[in-house]
Amino acid sequence: MNKLSPSMLSIDFGNIEENIKKVRDAGSDYIHVDVMDGVFVPNISFGPPVIQYVKKAAGDMPLDVHLMIVEPERYVDAFKKSGADLLTIHYESTKDVRAVVKLIKDAGMKAGVSIKPATPVSVLKGLLGEIDMVLIMSVEPGFGGQSFIEETYEKLREVKALIKAEGAGCDVEVDGGVSLDNLEQILEAGANVIVAGSAIFKNDIEKNVKMFKDIMNG
Ligand code: DX5
Ligand code: ZN
Repeated sequence: MNKLSPSMLSIDFGNIEENIKKVRDAGSDYIHVDVMDGVFVPNISFGPPVIQYVKKAAGDMPLDVHLMIVEPERYVDAFKKSGADLLTIHYESTKDVRAVVKLIKDAGMKAGVSIKPATPVSVLKGLLGEIDMVLIMSVEPGFGGQSFIEETYEKLREVKALIKAEGAGCDVEVDGGVSLDNLEQILEAGANVIVAGSAIFKNDIEKNVKMFKDIMNG
């Protein structure tokens, strides 16, 4: 099943509660929460205290938390307590990815692993059967509103082939530069969880969600 995960990075923080409810009521499957520490990426966003508040506003819409922080193992419990349902770490952010995946699952959350544009899909060999989702970054992590990197299509096909070869069943999420113009091509290449920030939180939010979902349910 295809799922839509609007990225909160582009939300109007002055009306955060109202806008979270808008994307939820229009049919979003998750809310995507980008956590940045100013070290793993050159930007700082927010952490557990804000996420706790997002959780309340989101109601039954699960939180898809994307950690762009170094040593994520130090904060697994804090994100669990703040309400994360799915916790994704970066392959490049920790020495022992498998150990952190285990921590996340033991804490009762779904686990995701993300790779940056320059990281090859081959690093995920042997790992796909242990995780719930793989996140292929289609921009350099750090900022919303960037252009989709075209090489991502090939990476999506590669990761789908690897999932099949390993008999794994994880979701494939894509994040960065997704719009109504490239959505179909992204789905065709193999993604089934779609993150979109600037394309959703502009003009008519409900209409944007519906237009995305129409193509995704196509
Ligand atoms: C970037 C974040 C994305 C970002 C996507 O590091 O991981 O989730 O918000 O924004 P758009 O959809 O505007 O490229
Ligand atoms: Zn993200």
